[in-house]
Parts: sequence; C-alpha cells; structure tokens
Amino acid sequence: MDSEPFAPDGRLLRFLQSVAEGGAGDAVDGVGAAEAGLVRPGPDGAPVLTEAGRASLAAAAIPAIYRRHAAVFDRLRVRTLFERAWLEQFLALVPPGGAVLDLGCGMGEPMARFLAEAGRRVTGVDASPALLALARERMPAGEWIAADMRDLDLRLRFEGILAWDSFFHLSRADQRAMFPVFARHAAPGAALMFTSGPAAGEAIGSFEGEALFHASLDPTDYRERMGKEGFEVVAHRAEDAECGGRTVWLARRSDQAASAG
Ligand SMILES: C[S@@+](CC[C@H](N)C(=O)[O-])C[C@H]1O[C@@H](n2cnc3c(N)ncnc32)[C@H](O)[C@@H]1O
Repeated sequence: MDSEPFAPDGRLLRFLQSVAEGGAGDAVDGVGAAEAGLVRPGPDGAPVLTEAGRASLAAAAIPAIYRRHAAVFDRLRVRTLFERAWLEQFLALVPPGGAVLDLGCGMGEPMARFLAEAGRRVTGVDASPALLALARERMPAGEWIAADMRDLDLRLRFEGILAWDSFFHLSRADQRAMFPVFARHAAPGAALMFTSGPAAGEAIGSFEGEALFHASLDPTDYRERMGKEGFEVVAHRAEDAECGGRTVWLARRSDQAASAG
C-alpha cells in the first residue's frame, strides 16, 4: 500500500518499535499497522516495517533526538546569520515591540536572539527542555515554553510566527494540522515564516548517528492550506542558495481572517 508516514503514538508506536527491533508485537496492533501501510508481512510471515513505517518511527523520534543531543546542537548550530535577509523581511511585517512566537526555537540562537535584539518580544516553544534551559539562561527576558507545537494552544495572539527548520521535522499529516495552530495564534496582519522542503516527500538525514526525519508537502498544498486560514504568501523561494538552500515561506494573515477566527 502506498501510505504516507505519520507520527503514531501510544500502542501503535510501541508496536512499530518492537517490529524495528525484530519482534512480532501484538497481533491486533499489527492489523492496525498493516491497514495504515506501516508494516507488511516479511518472508517468514512476521511483520516488517514498510518505508512509511520506518519514516513514521523516525518522525516520532524527533523530539527525543533534540532532547538527547541538545548540547551538540547548541555547539553545531551555525550563528553567522545567513538567514538575515529573510529575518529582515519578516521583521518588516512585525511592528516594533510586537510579539513573536518562535515554534521549535531550540536554544533561541541565533534566530530568537536576532528578533529580540530588534525589539520584538519573543516567546519560544520547543519540545526540548534542555535547549530551552539554555535559552532561558542566555535570554532571561524571553518567555520559554516546553511544549509540542502540534497541539499548542497558548490562547494568545502574536504579530509574528516563526517555525524555522522545525516545522519540516513534522510528518506531512502533522504539517497539515499545523495551519489551524498557526491561525489561532496569529493576530490581525500577523507574519508567518517557516521552512519546508521544495516538493512533497520525506527525507531522512542523520544527526549524532540517529535518523533525522524531514517531510514536505507540495508547494500548492502549502499555498492552499495557508489560503484557507487567511494567510497570503508574500515571499517564497525554493532552495534559496543565499540562505543555505532553505525553502522559505513568508506569509501574512489578513485582518478579516484573524478577527473572524
Ligand atoms: C533544527 S532545530 C531548529 C531550532 C531553531 N529554530 C533554529 O533555527 O536554530 C529543530 C528544533 O525543533 C524542535 N522540535 C521538533 N519537533 C518539535 C515539536 N513537535 N514541537 C516543538 N518543538 C519541536 C526541536 O526540539 C529542535 O529544537
């Protein structure tokens, strides 16, 4: 079955893990996993992971990877601000003193720091408490919240929302579900900037020897989902050579959409 990886949780995730470790797991979970296209019968009849199953496991492992390797990520994160041109376009849409929500902020360097130094009030959200502890220590004026962006509901609205090199770690299903999350945190006219892949698919990289999952929707899918939530794309570049090959989206929410939502 041609199935799309997703981030399973609970029993299904434990089942996939047991299959990855060579076990057979529970038969009932096996039926569910097979129906979802995450396992298929191997030569001896025992379940084996499909490509979608392997990718689903890798997607589910992302938060734990950044928890385990926070210190290495902090050391390796490039701080030359090759992202500056995009950050400046984003800032042009966020009034001085405006509130910015940085989703998957890591330790807040260099992105959140740049925004804070430009006079914006930064709230950072990340699934790695270890990275947030570094942010809190280095930028005590910021708000740093340990949470999963996928079910975030802060009941606050921001003039800017950033999800730089973090949103692309979510499965495609989870990425689709993020647009309402962006919308419910967006003030009228809010800027939204995130990075994605250039075309629909998954890519597995490596970080500290662990499989590092990335996914992307098709560009038309991103446009449609933003449009549905009242975001209009104001700038987009696929594989921007001047920004380390990032595929970047910058959008702005219409005033009417934000006041209606
Ligand atoms: C490559 S780092 C990017 C960090 C920062 N945005 C930057 O540009 O340096 C990816 C970050 O996304 C965070 N992350 C991944 N999945 C997340 C999720 N579901 N919810 C919250 N944070 C997540 C990770 O913990 C990690 O800090």
